[in-house]
Amino acid sequence: MDRIIVTGGKRLTGKVEVSGAKNAALPILASSLLADGEHTYRNVPHLADVSTMLKVLRTMGCDAAGLEGTGQAARTCTVGVAGGKVVPEAPYDLVRTMRASVLVLGPLVARYGRARVSMPGGCAIGARPIDQHLKGLKALGAEIHLTEGYVEARAKRLRGATVVFDKITVTGTENVMMAAALARGRTVLENAAREPEVEELARLLNKMGARISGAGTNLITIEGVEGLQPVDHAILPDRIEAGTLLVASAITSGDVLVAPAVPEHLDAVIQKLREAGCVIAAEGGGLRCKGPKVPRATNITTTEHPGFPTDMQAQLMVLMAVAEGTSVIREHIFENRFMHVAELDRMGADITVDGHTAVVRGVKRLSGAQVMASDLRASAALILAGLRAEGRTEVSRVYHLDRGYERLERKLRGLGAEIRRARG
Ligand code: EPZ
Repeated sequence: MDRIIVTGGKRLTGKVEVSGAKNAALPILASSLLADGEHTYRNVPHLADVSTMLKVLRTMGCDAAGLEGTGQAARTCTVGVAGGKVVPEAPYDLVRTMRASVLVLGPLVARYGRARVSMPGGCAIGARPIDQHLKGLKALGAEIHLTEGYVEARAKRLRGATVVFDKITVTGTENVMMAAALARGRTVLENAAREPEVEELARLLNKMGARISGAGTNLITIEGVEGLQPVDHAILPDRIEAGTLLVASAITSGDVLVAPAVPEHLDAVIQKLREAGCVIAAEGGGLRCKGPKVPRATNITTTEHPGFPTDMQAQLMVLMAVAEGTSVIREHIFENRFMHVAELDRMGADITVDGHTAVVRGVKRLSGAQVMASDLRASAALILAGLRAEGRTEVSRVYHLDRGYERLERKLRGLGAEIRRARG
């Protein structure tokens, strides 16, 4: 298994490129099932999760290819869908490796009238049920049965309805929105997720001929249409990767231009970095971050967008671990997203956890150590800690990292970090 080895103490400077957004690419690839023909996607990130989604589509009989070669071609993939050839089933072996595979459920039942998709099961950061996905599809008239660990959904033709989500869910909103695009009549999604990735998916679906309004707000209206067309679409930049790179500059007292990045997608993160003493400005189609000598402590509570994203909690915690003062970090989205704390404490941090709350008493220095990644964002956080720590840090289980970051070590090395990947 690969490991990432970092020698800390280097100040990061220069410009770094942000890849396409993982959490936009996954629902967008799943949406290709909604229309026959050849779909072309550009600025697609080279990630393990994207490869898994392409595998899921191929397993169902789609002709999914691309992400080979160099330059733009290396970031372009095509999905050829021939309705008659699609077998609407997503097997356990693939879904268990990437729970976002459940995003094929809505498109399959809407387009093919039936779907058999493995239940995703829990993951390191929480139980993560899909009851809201199923509630939404049932409201649109789908018959849902859970058998042998699979969701079996059937419907002659979905019909529009009002869905009130009990809990704000990103992929739940995306799944039901995709299904409603081909339902008969109007669907209204209330208490919907407002994440930029939901807005991006609606933008793409409208390009395919859907009639969706209100995406980006908590009230989305979808007028169902008879059919959709494949399109050629470029995926927006990854706001979480951009946020992670901003923290890399902050924690090394660096001066880095992170681009492309959409400032509005990172308002809550930028605000917290400024409170910590960073100077952040929009520049060159991105964000420039100048890090302070010693960060200031600030409190963080994760909530749904446009609040502070849970996917940036671990990274900001590392910055707070070396801040002047004590900060309180509350994780309100996932019940088990502090797995990185024990590893940071092994590097000399002073963090205590009580349920959803972590109290971080800033320390003067971190020391390099052998640490283990437990999930995607925790792995990025441990690498950030290694950039600041004295000596050598070795992060193992970096397969977590490769699920959501495209060659992060190479990008950091381009900014002056002393970092490399040791093959397993
Ligand atoms: C998406 O996951 C992202 N993944 C996650 O990013 C992100 O952390 C999360 O949204 C929150 O922002 C993708 O977009 C592929 P949720 P998702 O449904 O949709 C509960 C990363 O690091 N819930 O919004 O699965 C759930 O348990 C990943 O890139 C239900 O109770 O998250 C959680 O506590 C990690 N019932 C909360 O809602 C449901 O039916 C929010 O989950 C659905 C969710």
